[in-house]
Amino acid sequence: MLRPISKLTPSQAREWYPSADAVHGFDHVERVYAVCEEIGQREGADLEILLAAALLHDAQGSHPGEGNRKAHHIQSAEFAGTVLQELGWHTEKIQAVQHCIRAHRFRSSEQPSSLEAQALFDADKLDVIGAVGVVRALAYAFQAGQPAFAEPSRTFIETGNREPGEPHSAYHEYLFKLKGISASLLTKTAREIAVPRQQFLDAFFEELAFEMRGKK
Ligand SMILES: [Fe+2]
Ligand SMILES: [Fe+2]
Repeated sequence: MLRPISKLTPSQAREWYPSADAVHGFDHVERVYAVCEEIGQREGADLEILLAAALLHDAQGSHPGEGNRKAHHIQSAEFAGTVLQELGWHTEKIQAVQHCIRAHRFRSSEQPSSLEAQALFDADKLDVIGAVGVVRALAYAFQAGQPAFAEPSRTFIETGNREPGEPHSAYHEYLFKLKGISASLLTKTAREIAVPRQQFLDAFFEELAFEMRGKK
């Protein structure tokens, strides 16, 4: 007889995330978890798979000082396999969680093909827009030693590639990725949640650019 599955809880997951990380800390995971619950319930996803994936999705390789031996989505998926095996999860459920984690990254080669993977992808992206998105974009830039704003070159605007010596400011990240987040979402629920968040983020970065350029 198969062993019963032990549920993974938020309090178990807390120890994998440093509290001092403003970008991928546990508060990010708690928000993603809550939004996954909302999307999962409304869209009819398997919440056991989805919520375990939410708790594990950034557990490895995404925190300051961890280096980059392997991209964090791959490392976290491998870590998830170990954790869930120890909890007695069955192979196909573990694989479903691992797919969600590998496909959550914006620039991943693995596209989210299950409803659970799409829900995690969307919940993670909703956390980079809105007021929280502003905080995280600035925190990420400052962690990387980059400014909040630098004037983007024509090359960057046209191709997304920076010219030699050009910083990758938070404003660059906005133009390159954050501006288009709501259009990249995969579930109806997430697209609804995104509307006011995207408007807030767009307004912030437009105002930032306006003031930084010294316009009155
Ligand atoms: Fe991530
Ligand atoms: Fe994340």
